[in-house]
Amino acid sequence: ELNTALEEISHAESLEALQALKVRYLGRNGLLTQAMKTLGQLSPEERRERGRTLNEWKERLEKALEAREATLKEQALQRRLEEESVDVTLPGLAFPSGGLHLTSLILGELLRIFRRMGFSVVEGPEVESEFFNFDALNMPEWHPARDMQDTFWVEFRGEPSFTIQGPFGERVNELGGAVLRTHTSGMQIRYMIQHTPPFRIVVPGRVFRYEETDASHEAMFHQLEGLVVGEGITMADLKGAIAELARGLFGKEGKARFQPTFFPFVEPGVQFAMWWPEREKWLELGGAGMVHPYLFKVVDDYRERLGLPRAYQGVTGWAFGMGVERLAILRYGIPDIRYFYQNRLSFLKQFKG
Ligand code: PHE
Repeated sequence: ELNTALEEISHAESLEALQALKVRYLGRNGLLTQAMKTLGQLSPEERRERGRTLNEWKERLEKALEAREATLKEQALQRRLEEESVDVTLPGLAFPSGGLHLTSLILGELLRIFRRMGFSVVEGPEVESEFFNFDALNMPEWHPARDMQDTFWVEFRGEPSFTIQGPFGERVNELGGAVLRTHTSGMQIRYMIQHTPPFRIVVPGRVFRYEETDASHEAMFHQLEGLVVGEGITMADLKGAIAELARGLFGKEGKARFQPTFFPFVEPGVQFAMWWPEREKWLELGGAGMVHPYLFKVVDDYRERLGLPRAYQGVTGWAFGMGVERLAILRYGIPDIRYFYQNRLSFLKQFKG
């Protein structure tokens, strides 16, 4: 009897099975407990004899149960350790990492080239005064570029808290309405008012056009503006800078081409293309020209109104503006400008930087 019980205990396969055995033998209605209850019916000697035996059995059962429980727990722990062990020699899980957007990559490349040429990088506001975006750039009220078709106007009349700030933080609401800048050229004026020549700057930034979007038109894109002002600055310097840009982008065979065109804020004005040696192609990338004297006058008048000395007599300068997405589109053969800002990963991942 005892041996059967001990046998059963030592072979219990789980803690649950062991618990069941414990109840079976030592529980309130367990076999041993019952046997003890019958002691009262025995004679004193028999009772002593039997009692000692039963107590001894009880002790041995308890010991066996404890021992088996310890073994089972130890086995369970071992099993868990084995199952959950980390194999440090396996390759790790790769976390998907983000990357720079194609526009950022191209802009980074452009800015690196201009920094190498000694240009500073500055930025300006996207909500711009009509004055800086148009008037100061020799684009008066009647100019076609100011047509409702091309410009997003920002309504602020009757909104006292809405302030457009000039280069020194002064309120310029009186100078005209607010627009989403249609180009980065307004920064030419802002920068010239705030600084005295000579200087070389480039201005990257978003611009906005009120467009019906299609494969070649987006309502938002990026431009890079350049401005150099100083004594004796000529068109040859402009050509040299654009050629250097072409070499930076396309290697030492890169070069620049100018064709005459009109922008109200430059005279003479050109559109420029860069030679892409690998594909033997001219890429039309932007507009440029010598800063129109009208701009210097506007800037000096503005400075004078602020109590600053006139600083733009006897200097010349050049400016350029180019489309950032346009460069990427031509270089990578991207068929639709709308792909840039649809956030489709299958498109963006191809240019992960
Ligand atoms: N602002 C012009 C545009 O958006 C580009 C330009 C900049 C042309 C500077 C000449 C000089 O098309």
